[in-house]
Amino acid sequence: NLTIMDSDLIKLVNKLQDTFANLGGELDMPQLAVVGSQSAGKSSVLETIVGRDFLPRGQGIVTRRPLVLQLIHTPAPDPPTSTYTEWGQFLHIDKRFTDFNEIRKEIEQETFRVAGQNKGISKLPIHLRIYSPNVLDLTLVDLPGLTKLPVGDQPSDIEKQIRSLVIDYISKQNCVILAVSAANVDLANSESLKLARSVDPQGRRTIGVLTKLDLMDAGTNALDVLTGRVYPLKLGFIGVVNRSQQDINSEKSMSDALDSETEFFKNHPSYRNIAHKNGTTYLARTLNQVLMNHIREKLPDMKARLNTLMGQAQQELNTFGDDAMYGDTNQQGGLILRLMTQFARDFVSSIEGTNADIS
Ligand code: GDP
Ligand code: NA
Ligand code: MG
Repeated sequence: NLTIMDSDLIKLVNKLQDTFANLGGELDMPQLAVVGSQSAGKSSVLETIVGRDFLPRGQGIVTRRPLVLQLIHTPAPDPPTSTYTEWGQFLHIDKRFTDFNEIRKEIEQETFRVAGQNKGISKLPIHLRIYSPNVLDLTLVDLPGLTKLPVGDQPSDIEKQIRSLVIDYISKQNCVILAVSAANVDLANSESLKLARSVDPQGRRTIGVLTKLDLMDAGTNALDVLTGRVYPLKLGFIGVVNRSQQDINSEKSMSDALDSETEFFKNHPSYRNIAHKNGTTYLARTLNQVLMNHIREKLPDMKARLNTLMGQAQQELNTFGDDAMYGDTNQQGGLILRLMTQFARDFVSSIEGTNADIS
């Protein structure tokens, strides 16, 4: 199951999107993109946010084309049937993937097909949609890692090419940037933070993600970074421990990995006190809050539209007079308008009651 996103948020977003669509508008949700050096753990982080194993991960340059991953909410069948309720669908191939290992293989093959066999990269994105009852409509983008020295078939200006590719995605104001840095590399050299700062100078839509805390040298820790004393970001830094290559090779499950991560923070002498503000689950919660705040910003516009509609509905109701109230079959339209108006009112009060504060 894709369980990490908050199910109340998923319901709310879907309700809002349906309503907005009925009003002839659109609730455009932010895109989420990961930025970072090669092997910093970008694909690993995305995968844990989605809650499923399906991305190629590994040493060296693995992600060689952007992957635009669209999560699409699909209601579960009612009553539940034995058919699959979660599946993937690529833009480049007409096939429903219900096995997530097959999805990974297809991403690998499609990468080879366009970006070649030998470490080349391509700007051409792979489009993948995941349909599930357990997701909210959200677009996540996995990007090739920032690198300096060309290897394999990479051109001499590979650094510039990847930077411009990444900037294409993260410069959009609607993009939430997950700036991934590995904790076993000096943060002063973090390419992800430099790049994120170049498009988000005030650090308003950048979340710092510090991976590989488990790989730091004995006797060192990242407490200063995680508590925001080294690099200021409004949304802060969140430490995570993803699956190691060894874990991947031995097919350690996602839930086991989450458990080990929780244990890591709880038992670590330096992180014990900040354990509740770190880890993948907390990262997902933070994302939920960022999305909630985004929706909040859209609410006034939505309410204005609803009010206009309610005004119109009210006027029509008045012209129908009493018949509308008594459900005269000739006046069905009036009754429907009345119900719509009531729905709109309930709706406005339900979103006003939404508790979406950043804690
Ligand atoms: P990307 O190149 O940035 O997408 O990084 P990947 O997600 O492919 O990870 C690169 C390698 O680092 C893989 O072998 C992962 O298993 C490993 N890795 C990623 N995050 C962590 C972590 O937090 N701890 C450890 N030990 N290994 C990690
Ligand atoms: Na990698
Ligand atoms: Mg990757």
